[in-house]
Amino acid sequence: MRADEVPPNLGDLVPPHHRAGFHEYLARVKREGRAEGLGTVLASDGTRRVWHFHSSIRREGVAEPVVRSIVTDVTDARARERLLADRETRLRHAQKIEAVGKLAGGIAHDFNNILTVIAGHLALATDESQLMPAQARADLEEVTRAVGQATRLTRRLLGFSRKQLLAPRVVDVNALITELEPMLARVLDERIAFAAHPSPTPARINIDPSVLESALVNLAVNARDAMPDGGTLTVDTVVRGRMVTIVVRDSGTGMDPETLARAGEPFFTTKGAGVGTGLGLAMIYGSVEQSGGSIRMESTPGAGTVVHLLFPVATGDSDAETPTEEHRAARRSTPPPPSVRPVSVLVVEDEDPLRRLVERILVREGYHVTPARHGADALHIVSALDDPIELLITDLVMPELGGREVTEALRATNPSLPVLYISGYDPDPVGLDVGDQANTAFLAKPFTGSALLEHVRRLAPPRRDAAR
Ligand SMILES: Nc1ncnc2c1ncn2[C@@H]1O[C@H](COP(=O)(O)OP(=O)(O)OP(=O)(O)O)[C@@H](O)[C@H]1O
Ligand SMILES: [Mg+2]
Repeated sequence: MRADEVPPNLGDLVPPHHRAGFHEYLARVKREGRAEGLGTVLASDGTRRVWHFHSSIRREGVAEPVVRSIVTDVTDARARERLLADRETRLRHAQKIEAVGKLAGGIAHDFNNILTVIAGHLALATDESQLMPAQARADLEEVTRAVGQATRLTRRLLGFSRKQLLAPRVVDVNALITELEPMLARVLDERIAFAAHPSPTPARINIDPSVLESALVNLAVNARDAMPDGGTLTVDTVVRGRMVTIVVRDSGTGMDPETLARAGEPFFTTKGAGVGTGLGLAMIYGSVEQSGGSIRMESTPGAGTVVHLLFPVATGDSDAETPTEEHRAARRSTPPPPSVRPVSVLVVEDEDPLRRLVERILVREGYHVTPARHGADALHIVSALDDPIELLITDLVMPELGGREVTEALRATNPSLPVLYISGYDPDPVGLDVGDQANTAFLAKPFTGSALLEHVRRLAPPRRDAAR
């Protein structure tokens, strides 16, 4: 607003519902002689501006006291400030989640090792449970179920700490949602009407389908919990430009701004103890962001919640099978007959119980196992062996000499040595590309005995001819 456009009576610029406040301000100036404050005015082009008023009263030489004000337009400065504050809040929030994520990720990693040992011994005990009394067998089954739950919980923890093992590939979101519908229907109850609206064109994104599956199932569970008396849940897929957006909308209770702001925090839940863990959304944030996507959430108390999952459109158009798919296929195939001549396996793992477990599983299957407590130990042992090692199973992350260094050292004299890495960490950040080589594989902790054996059989098939 130009100075010559400002009317002598500033009150004329104040929008009607701000007038009472403005008159109060004028009264204060008259009472106290001077005052300052912020006020809203309507500019000549109809836009709202925020002005800073600095006013004083002049009584001398005038019949009526006059209020004189120096005004500064602070609209843009205030918008900038708000933007900065907003950014700072978001940054602090991200840092907090990052810190909790690291902590939880560390715990989950160690816990994974323990779980692998528990699950492994449980499987061994279950194999021999025919000889046990019925009650003991039932108890074992209970423990097995609990281990399953604990495994899922650590997966979720690893999920939001972004240490999840992901196998992204190009998927069509529409097809995936169609496949998922029966599962979503099972999660929801019959009072909730569900509808999916696919996009007219394919919505191809690069993602590990399990990320999308668990995100949608978790969102559906949240929506169900927010609609105790029924309602509607829709999942729309929208392709616009280079983005695919999945819009999940419920007609539930919604969230007030405070709840909405904290909903994605790990362990934040409004559900009773034992009902919610508060990890659902945190996990979705972690895994979606790890997959290159982002999330936006809007909610209105009493009206419902809308969650937008945004992903860039996949650039490649191949639906090529990933190494993980190959592994899955390998797992489905029937195992070859047990080896005639024992295959010699070197097991390098710094966690004693885990190493003993792997050893026990392999020995039971007729393998010849040489255990090593760490990388240097492994190299020392191998140098003293008469016969060559035929398979190396090694932890990836170990103090001093890591799994990759051990592999490098052993392959220097035995270049075709098959290697199976076992780790609770995502192989990517540690720079391992297992997809490249036919004689290298990666097994995530916690693993089952059968998964271990399937990898071992594939990498080091029994050599019957050599035994004759
Ligand atoms: N669709 C929704 N409608 C209303 N409130 C929601 C919705 N989704 C999430 N919330 C709120 O956000 C909180 C956190 O959700 P989140 O999924 O992370 O954990 P949870 O559902 O409480 O527990 P968990 O998913 O681990 O079982 C919920 O407790 C709830 O208060
Ligand atoms: Mg939830």
